[in-house]
Amino acid sequence: MSKKPDIDKFTGIETTGHEWDGIKELNNPSPRWWLIVFLASVIWAVGYWVVYPAWPTLSGNGERGGTKGSMGWTQYDELKEQQAEITARKAAYLTRFEDASFSEIQQNPELYAFAVAGGAAAFKDNCATCHGTGGAGSAGYPNLNDDDWLWGGDINSLHDTIRFGVRSSHDETRFSEMPAFGDMLGEAEIEATADYVLSFTTDAVPTDMGRQTYEDNCAACHAEDGTGDKSLGAPNLADAIWFYGNDRADIMSQIRKPKHGVMPNWEARLDANTIRQLAIYVHSLGGGEE
Ligand code: HEC
Ligand code: HEC
Repeated sequence: MSKKPDIDKFTGIETTGHEWDGIKELNNPSPRWWLIVFLASVIWAVGYWVVYPAWPTLSGNGERGGTKGSMGWTQYDELKEQQAEITARKAAYLTRFEDASFSEIQQNPELYAFAVAGGAAAFKDNCATCHGTGGAGSAGYPNLNDDDWLWGGDINSLHDTIRFGVRSSHDETRFSEMPAFGDMLGEAEIEATADYVLSFTTDAVPTDMGRQTYEDNCAACHAEDGTGDKSLGAPNLADAIWFYGNDRADIMSQIRKPKHGVMPNWEARLDANTIRQLAIYVHSLGGGEE
């Protein structure tokens, strides 16, 4: 049942018989350039199947159960090679890092950048929960960006703090304990001492009772002038930076029944290189001391 071919009356070319609103499709042959590209692609594909791993096989012969390809190339091998190169490069840095002292690292821009990058990554993983992602801290968790340090801001002090912790379970932990004065001092003395502490930073008027109580009970740790003592982790009370709060009520509560910050020790959890990188990173945050 062959139909008579439909010939377009304007061009004289046979149509495919497809028609849309009176517009008909001419049955022209595909252009020659297109045919050449098509055939070349077919030949290319056959070559590709032979050279590269391409076909899944039932026997699971090659990598991930397919043909191996005549070149033996796989993406997995390439990835392995690249990873091995990265590990080797990192290992070379680590050995140099391990052998260098803190001051040598600080003087070597390459090693210093390596340490800060490693420290930043370890900080996000281990420290940011308490100290904030940028080290800005929050009430009860000290800010590590400023130049106000409880236990010292030079690299070696930071290194010790991170290694051993503060009031931690480590034998060499940094430790000190502000006594609770709630039972030792009367309410009037506590108020007067709080006002005396506030007089370091505000225009609160100190009383003799406040001065006397402070000098007898507090100066041993916080110093006569309130500047604190880093060997005891006793905060500076004469600056505008407060660890637990600067309200009269906060200060009185700290005198009655002090809070004791606990910082875990990291020696048990992180390797020595990571702890050194962390010390350099924290020191780099801006408030590091010489
Ligand atoms: C569980 C909460 C917590 C985590 C996690 C934590 N810290 Fe701390 N960190 C503290 C507290 C609380 C203090 C204050 C201790 C005190 O009262 O003296 C502190 C103090 C410090 C100090 C001393 C600051 C100063 O002024 O002398 C440094 C440095 C420090 N932390 C670094 C780190 C690093 C680095 C990490 C991650 C490896 C880390 N911390 C993880 C809670 C934490
Ligand atoms: C044995 C040393 C010691 C003595 C004595 C001591 N303190 Fe402290 N004080 C500390 C330490 C250490 C801290 C930090 C608290 C912590 O994290 O455990 C602190 C914290 C404070 C704070 C909180 C500071 C802040 O930034 O929020 C105030 C306020 C304070 N002390 C006032 C006093 C007053 C007032 C007295 C005397 C009545 C006193 N302290 C006696 C060691 C001492």
